[in-house]
Amino acid sequence: MRFYIATDHAGYAVKEFTKDIVRSLGHEIIDLGPDSADRVDYPDFGKKCAKAVTEDKGSFGIVICGTGIGISISANKIKGARAALCHDAYTASMSRAHNDANILAFGERVVGRGVIETIIRAFCDTPFEGGRHINRVNKIE
Ligand code: RB5
Repeated sequence: MRFYIATDHAGYAVKEFTKDIVRSLGHEIIDLGPDSADRVDYPDFGKKCAKAVTEDKGSFGIVICGTGIGISISANKIKGARAALCHDAYTASMSRAHNDANILAFGERVVGRGVIETIIRAFCDTPFEGGRHINRVNKIE
């Protein structure tokens, strides 16, 4: 899988950790910034990641801010983006199985590093179930 990752300043502290996990699972990850913990606006980075994902068919994204809320709302303004704010492995797994999420969002101030790892594993390991969920996902568009 190819991932794009973007954060704001509040998500920056776990960006390298998150990239290491994704790579350790055998996936590619492209960093869209920011390059420091200086204050930035989460909509700029949420939308940047969502644009990259929707323009690169079959790719996925990870967006991180303090709560995961602002950056996921922003990502979801881009047509074709399905950013899921996840708090645990269950929500991450279901976001793939039922919602065909193409962007994983979480909050650096909400989940710890152990939970981040289980969230990413669940997101990567769970395929979209298709079937009855296809029509519902299509209706989102
Ligand atoms: C930044 O302080 C914080 O507001 C942002 O990271 C995010 O949590 C917004 O939803």
